[in-house]
Amino acid sequence: MKHMKPVIIAHGGAGGVNHPLRRARGLIRACRIGYGMLMQGSSSLDAVEQAIMELEDVSIFNAGRGSSLNLEGVPEMDASIMTSDMKFGAVAVITDVRYPIQVARLVMEKTDHLVLGGKNAVRFARIMGIPKYNCVTQEKKRAWQWMRKKLRSAYFEKLPDLAEYYGTIGVVAIDRHGFITAGTSSGGITMRLPGRIGDTPSPGAGTYADKNGGVGATGHGEEILRHLLSFRAAQFMARAPAPIAGEKVIAFANKYKCRCGLIGIDKKGRIMCVNNTRAMSWCYIKNGRMHIFRW
Ligand code: GLY
Repeated sequence: MKHMKPVIIAHGGAGGVNHPLRRARGLIRACRIGYGMLMQGSSSLDAVEQAIMELEDVSIFNAGRGSSLNLEGVPEMDASIMTSDMKFGAVAVITDVRYPIQVARLVMEKTDHLVLGGKNAVRFARIMGIPKYNCVTQEKKRAWQWMRKKLRSAYFEKLPDLAEYYGTIGVVAIDRHGFITAGTSSGGITMRLPGRIGDTPSPGAGTYADKNGGVGATGHGEEILRHLLSFRAAQFMARAPAPIAGEKVIAFANKYKCRCGLIGIDKKGRIMCVNNTRAMSWCYIKNGRMHIFRW
């Protein structure tokens, strides 16, 4: 049995870093909790799920309680989780749950499927004992009202710069046994069409893990999905250490004008943390030392 030193990394989105202190506090807390679990022998699956739940509860992040609202003012959320033995579970356009990542894990462990969506994902959550929860915060309601006035049209127009409107949170960890888990949770793009599904619940797009490493992506979901960016990053990890794989995947993303950020950990516990957007908030703990984004 392998004996690895646990490592955990989290990001709070690559759509810019407003309220950096709130973001830093959330990321530090999530990483500390996840790392503490890993050091006490928990699996990366448990640590990642718990760390993501911590972030889903912090309303500055676009996930869970902080989820942005779609064109009709509804927070439809996506989340996924994947392990290095290639198990995967996800929910798409789910509403009325506090922790979408919990439901994604239940899809992975309790069903024969990979992704459940919409009202039937909500129904599944209830059957699994997940209570109803309203994720709309006053902060997001105000942002939505402001945007609604700006957009004028009743229907989604192509937005001038989608990069302004997206965000996601993600966590990747490796445990003592070298088992890697990646998870992502997102409130999607503000003012998206109802029913829009981003990169987050698609394996290989927003989240991916295999024996070479685990990756979480954030940024412009349509482009991340088109280019299966997390899968691509893990493929690079098969041939190069995580930091080099990060350079390669960002060079690829630049070539296709895909605005994104990626975090990851390879099978040796090396870190990937890259973005080509204005700013990305992130935090990781390795060898007991915490590293955090600058602001
Ligand atoms: N990357 C998050 C989204 O576009 O939904």
